[in-house]
Amino acid sequence: MSKRRLVIVSNRLPFIVRERAGELRYTPSVGGLATGLSAYLRSLDVPQSSVKDYLWVGWPGSTVNDASKARLRRETFEKFQSSPIFLSAEEMDLFYHGFCNGTLWPLFHYFPSLTTYREDYWKQYQQVNKTFAESVSEILKPDDIVWIHDYQLMLLPRLLRQYVPQSPIGFFLHIPFPSFEIFRLIPQEWRREILQGLMGADLVGFHTYEYTQNFLRCVLRILGIGNTMGSIIAHDRIVKAETFPMGIDVAHFAEAAQSPEVQRERDVLRKSLKTDKVILSVDRLDYTKGILNRLEAYEYLLENFKEYRRHVVLVMIVVPSRVAVRQYERMKKQIEETVGRINGKFGSVGWTPIIYQYKALPFHPLVAFYTVSDVALVTPLRDGMNLVAKEYVASRADDTGVLILSEMAGAAKELGEAVIINPNYREEVASAMRMALDMPLEEQRRRNRVMKERIRRYNVVRWAGDFVTQLLSVQDVRRSFYSKLLLEDSRSELTERYRASLSRGIYLDYDGTLSPFTLHPEDAAPSKELLTLLKILAGDSRNNITIISGRKRDVLGEWFESLPIRLVAEHGIWILEPGKEWVMAKPMNNSWKSSILPVLEQYADRLPGSFVEEKEFSAVWHYRGADPEHSESLAAELMDTLMGFTANVDAQVMRGNKIIEVRPVGVTKGIIGEELIQRANDEFVLFIGDDWTDEDLFKVLPGAAYSVKVGMAQTHARFMVQGVQDVLALLGQLASPSDGAGD
Ligand code: UDP
Ligand code: G6P
Repeated sequence: MSKRRLVIVSNRLPFIVRERAGELRYTPSVGGLATGLSAYLRSLDVPQSSVKDYLWVGWPGSTVNDASKARLRRETFEKFQSSPIFLSAEEMDLFYHGFCNGTLWPLFHYFPSLTTYREDYWKQYQQVNKTFAESVSEILKPDDIVWIHDYQLMLLPRLLRQYVPQSPIGFFLHIPFPSFEIFRLIPQEWRREILQGLMGADLVGFHTYEYTQNFLRCVLRILGIGNTMGSIIAHDRIVKAETFPMGIDVAHFAEAAQSPEVQRERDVLRKSLKTDKVILSVDRLDYTKGILNRLEAYEYLLENFKEYRRHVVLVMIVVPSRVAVRQYERMKKQIEETVGRINGKFGSVGWTPIIYQYKALPFHPLVAFYTVSDVALVTPLRDGMNLVAKEYVASRADDTGVLILSEMAGAAKELGEAVIINPNYREEVASAMRMALDMPLEEQRRRNRVMKERIRRYNVVRWAGDFVTQLLSVQDVRRSFYSKLLLEDSRSELTERYRASLSRGIYLDYDGTLSPFTLHPEDAAPSKELLTLLKILAGDSRNNITIISGRKRDVLGEWFESLPIRLVAEHGIWILEPGKEWVMAKPMNNSWKSSILPVLEQYADRLPGSFVEEKEFSAVWHYRGADPEHSESLAAELMDTLMGFTANVDAQVMRGNKIIEVRPVGVTKGIIGEELIQRANDEFVLFIGDDWTDEDLFKVLPGAAYSVKVGMAQTHARFMVQGVQDVLALLGQLASPSDGAGD
């Protein structure tokens, strides 16, 4: 496979630029997204990688003077292979402080009470996502792979897709995707747009299975689109949702831990900390990280278990983050007050219970802290993944050290050998600290070895590699769909064959093919446009038109009797030749109906919005208007029940588009269609249908026949079109006397 360029798009670039006295200064960004992706990009020169080169597009972390922009562009490309997107201070305020960190961040981390809903925030979020789409589209080359990251850019996949419909676009969410009950708190219009935005991607990735399931459930409940094993067929495209727990560069941490630089730092730290045991916590200052809860638990430990006093030091590294957001400012004050209070209450000459540092650490000093600490205390109230937990395990050269990890962090799904706690309950956290401080070294090693091996295998290179491989494979599936699309060339060929033929059999399904689905079947009457088209086509003596439907004969009769076309009702039980009476294709028995109908009625009672339609020889349970999730599970249950009921009678059960139908054995569109087609022996045969029931006929059509499936799905048809409008356009082309296509 030829190697391609990867274009990474994230709100934040891996550096923050600051302009001082005409100078541009760069410092590394903090946060898992920036550190994790940077680690992956360092590994790109390995031969197995399907990526040869990369470009990172995003915001440079501050507003820059117009005069410096060109220089920044040049320098960031040379130093960081990056391309900056400039945003004004006002834009950043409403977009970044506003919608991203005042609306999405708290809500997605289950803090609805901190969530602000403001129209101006939302509008700016839309606008900035548009700006990203325009800028990225200008940079993209035809063969690029696009990988968009995180909650700041959830509208971008769809917006960008409009510029580059064929490019592989992946999206990864680095924070939790919340449950439906939380996600639905977002105003209706916004939440639909966010989901549709994400569905512009070919692949949407999440850290844990639970987040993936939450997303799929929201797509089902809010957009009404189901999935098969995470594959969502959305109108004309396939979108896959999948779990990829983000890893770290384990070797990088393990090597650093042994480096002279880190060993020197560690010796200095050991001397200055002067304590038996060190407990470490490292996080961005964020209310999701449970920093205050942790302090309370530590206070509880010192209060109730005096033996730890003077023997333990909690080193708390808090990295400044989003300082302009009000909650963060308030929290900083609270943390500092609490630290001061605990140190004042328990501290003594020669012992400070908490060493608090409010700053970001470079890599080596950070690893030195990991290696010097006996316990890592990672207690977020909610966290998408948490890389610090993995970094601590990776840095422990002799496999000692105890990781205490919140069950609310995505990382807990992989690091089950840690001491897992509920961060909300200080007694539990304190007792985990005691357990950790007293844990025998052999047990520490036993736990760490298992975790280390796991994070070593599924490291950041594997994470990104798997994502890109999946992204390209979804594209392959999409390409196979597209290869079936009835595009200009095949449409012209079909039209030419049609025009050149002296007898033409045109077979058309009705619902979902000639007319869009409606909540109630009786509302789906044929449009004027359709009736006109059918009239023109039927007026040509070379054409034999058949509508072949699962509908009742009286409805089809009422709609089409005036036209000189053949009607087939109830999937082939009834046939009406133009100008004649309805006849049955063969004798049928419907004695089974009396036992089946009460079963269907029972399900209609259980599922509000569903109902039963009784036909002469079949019965249908419709659930298009019902709760999408409940109906999926009840439909599966009903299928099961009906299978039992119909085992010994002459009836079969069929699942169609939001319906379950029971009808006599030996009746399918395949059987009747094949018979009619053989009998007519037309020179040109065309069948268009959309549903599973139409597959029976697609399967048995003669090789030269044209078969067209409406909607993108696996099919036996030769071609696909996207919707009813495309069918009408095709019929329009056939009906038109001179469109230049071979007349
Ligand atoms: N980090 C850092 N310097 C610091 C503290 C943290 O570079 O002083 C890095 C740390 O190594 C980790 C990232 O910041 O890779 C934090 O990621 P995590 O997933 O734990 O939390 P997030 O900040 O993304 O919520
Ligand atoms: C988390 C988010 C990232 C974000 C980082 C730092 O890791 O998932 O998208 O970049 O925090 O936050 P900031 O607001 O400074 O970019």
